[in-house]
Amino acid sequence: MDPREALDQIASEVRGCTRCNLHHSRKCSVPGEGPANARILFIGEGPGVNENEQGRPFVGAAGKLLENLLAKAGLRRDEVFICNVVKCRPPGNRDPLPEEMAACGKYLDRQIEAIDPEVIVTLGRFSMGKFLPGARISAIHGQAKVVDGRLVVAMFHPAAALHQPALKPALEQDFANLPRHLMLVSTTVPQTQNTPVGPIHTYHELVHDEPPAEDADPQQLNLF
Ligand code: URA
Ligand code: SF4
Repeated sequence: MDPREALDQIASEVRGCTRCNLHHSRKCSVPGEGPANARILFIGEGPGVNENEQGRPFVGAAGKLLENLLAKAGLRRDEVFICNVVKCRPPGNRDPLPEEMAACGKYLDRQIEAIDPEVIVTLGRFSMGKFLPGARISAIHGQAKVVDGRLVVAMFHPAAALHQPALKPALEQDFANLPRHLMLVSTTVPQTQNTPVGPIHTYHELVHDEPPAEDADPQQLNLF
């Protein structure tokens, strides 16, 4: 199926979904939005009060901050795909339950398959846990990890930075580094100017266990 059609199909199923208990208290489910060919997929936690009203992701204060952070990466909101681990609001913004994430995960998996993004950015610990179980966000935020042949970068949740301003500089720095991750994916490990050009390592080689170039910046890619 064409990716756009697949995403529209998922969105229509999500709007009428009753697979978990969150459907009882929601007003609007929030499938997510963005271009089908987005290179980056951002995955938050779940809709808040504003998202539940409007049926769109990240439209409240955290969304405003997300837009500012995207600008630090030279990105506009309308060129990335934005969604959440659970598509319906957990009452009172409580944490999503394991069974809710399991029920809703099928939609997220289908979205990932349809978009086939080059980079997945997880916002907060619940979406991080899907790809990097057991990881500590304070230890690994901003690092590019290869998970199932795709780059995954875990970041703090923008709402966390609103509550704890001390997290904001790290979040800004992690967004500012996103273009480097995208560059790595699209072609090669960048060579420094004075180094003779060595073998070119493509993303394909990197994710298929070829070692990165010796002079590659170790911050750029942390293979498990
Ligand atoms: N927080 C999230 O995790 N997702 C949203 O859509 C809004 C706020
Ligand atoms: Fe369905 Fe997901 Fe909403 Fe639960 S949270 S009702 S699984 S769309």
